[in-house]
Amino acid sequence: MYRSHNCGALRIDHVGQEVTLSGWVQIGRDLGGMTFVDLRDRYGITQLAFNMDDNADLCEQARKLGREFVIKVTGIVNERQSKNANRPTGDIEIKVSHLEVLNASKTPPFTIENETDGGDDIRMKYRYLDIRRNPVKENLIFRSNLAIETRKYLAGEGFIEVETPNLIKSTPEGARDFVVPSRMNANQFYALPQSPQTFKQLLMVAGMDKYFQIVKCFRDEDLRADRQPEFTQIDCEMAFVTREDVLNTFEGLTKHLFSTVKNITLDDFPKMSYDEAMRRFGSDKPDLRFDMEFIYLNEQLKGKDFVVFDGAENIIGIVVKGIADEYSNKDLKKLTEWVQRPQIGAKGLVYVKHHADDTIKSTIGKFFSEEELRSVLSHCGAEKGDTLFVLCGETEKTRKQLNELRLEMGRRLGLMKEGDFKPLWVIDFPLLEWDEESERFHAMHHPFTSPKAEDEERMLNGDHETMKSLRADAYDLVINGSEIGGGSIRIHDRELQSKNLDLLGFSKEEAEAQFGFLLGAFEYGAPPHGGIAFGFDRLCAVLNGQSSIRDFIAFPKNNQGRDIMIDAPSPIDDEQLTELRLDLVKQEE
Ligand code: AMO
Repeated sequence: MYRSHNCGALRIDHVGQEVTLSGWVQIGRDLGGMTFVDLRDRYGITQLAFNMDDNADLCEQARKLGREFVIKVTGIVNERQSKNANRPTGDIEIKVSHLEVLNASKTPPFTIENETDGGDDIRMKYRYLDIRRNPVKENLIFRSNLAIETRKYLAGEGFIEVETPNLIKSTPEGARDFVVPSRMNANQFYALPQSPQTFKQLLMVAGMDKYFQIVKCFRDEDLRADRQPEFTQIDCEMAFVTREDVLNTFEGLTKHLFSTVKNITLDDFPKMSYDEAMRRFGSDKPDLRFDMEFIYLNEQLKGKDFVVFDGAENIIGIVVKGIADEYSNKDLKKLTEWVQRPQIGAKGLVYVKHHADDTIKSTIGKFFSEEELRSVLSHCGAEKGDTLFVLCGETEKTRKQLNELRLEMGRRLGLMKEGDFKPLWVIDFPLLEWDEESERFHAMHHPFTSPKAEDEERMLNGDHETMKSLRADAYDLVINGSEIGGGSIRIHDRELQSKNLDLLGFSKEEAEAQFGFLLGAFEYGAPPHGGIAFGFDRLCAVLNGQSSIRDFIAFPKNNQGRDIMIDAPSPIDDEQLTELRLDLVKQEE
């Protein structure tokens, strides 16, 4: 028997019992007459005590234990003299009578403590050691609980979990595919799914009615803190539903997850159209934990002979509370340089400071009288102590830049409060995006998204310009400025689907070759249907107030898309290349 209890189980009630524990040596303390060892497993840490007077040999053995040795001990549970209130097992220790080393360990390359001395790379290389640390372990346990609660809720709502294949044909979600060569079909490739989108729609045609899957998706795209090349979705689809049915079901799921894993009760989620979100916050995923809404200032600021304003399509401001006296000229210069960085690209930053002593300072004092500036401040609702920041230029660009500034000020002022959760449905996205460079439309969500019912007719018969104004029956779930999920009501009619593919630049032949299976299925009684997918890794991170999803994935990739623990990707040998008939690759090398 390796253990009668785990290392987190023993309490004062167990005093006097003989127990057997197994685990890893966290740390040893040699105090001469006594040696103490902290024994750790997934469940906790228990102190082991070895007394020189009782058993000198055993004490000697204990002194030789290194960090991370795997040991088994038997002994009696004793009440501790100096208790450790920070540990659930802190009232007791084990007076060890038998010690067995199950496996020795090299000294780990970083300390296995909550706060470690190991950098990112080394922790990734030895991820199995990193997972022994509480913060990473707790994240994986959290993830497991979230998956279990997701399954419970969706099963309770009548959803059926169906697995869909990983070796498929491309499902476009806007990223590049990872491809897999087929040995049995020379020069042919599978694509790994960017999502199970087409399969879940086929399951609706198949009459499954309510489908879900907690599923791996693969996208070859540039990595960021909230993006991994393989990630997990809670993927769902429902037949005979309207948008409201889908939103209600997944608002219900979100509330269930918050209440069961975080003990937080969420209010009903507000809905905001894409247009409104862009107008008020310059983003389709606004962080609603704080205000700083956009204020449009064309009327107030144009026509005063300030060419920068006069030549701009839009002049937009935000009021930042309480920083007028705090932010020096130097700080404001730095902030101006911050918005001028290429990543943001603003030409400059105009500010109007309303100091606590009622004086006004502004970068545009030359062009506007104090009275005019006071009137602008009052129009914006700025009070003493506040600062109005203004950006101007082409509307879309200016909104994006001001969104970055708003988020930065929110961060600086600590307005994104931990434990505060502000979910939001963003609805009515544009169906198509026109790309000037390639002179093509792109699907804003994906090619299977339905236009809103009232736009169907315009889509089938409208001209090129009309297409730019079509709205999709698509929606995103945003929490604290992070896109947690996205979905749509789908096209279930062959003609409309063909029209959409045509608008997206697929010839009839290409559409048939790539999506013939789906178009064909639409001819055999496809029910109206819709669905959504949540980014499961993102949901884990956001629920814990974190932005990086890596910490919630057991074995993630680094920013170059590499797994540095197993060293992948890596070359394959010549024989394998020949077998896969990829000799061409060989020759090129
Ligand atoms: P979409 O492409 O919006 O929709 O993806 C759904 C959600 O998946 C998460 N996500 C990612 N998470 C981590 N790393 C990535 N690289 C990554 N890419 C996306 C996001 C996103 O909101 N088939 C549709 C869903 C549908 O229409 O039902 C789809 O995949 O949180």
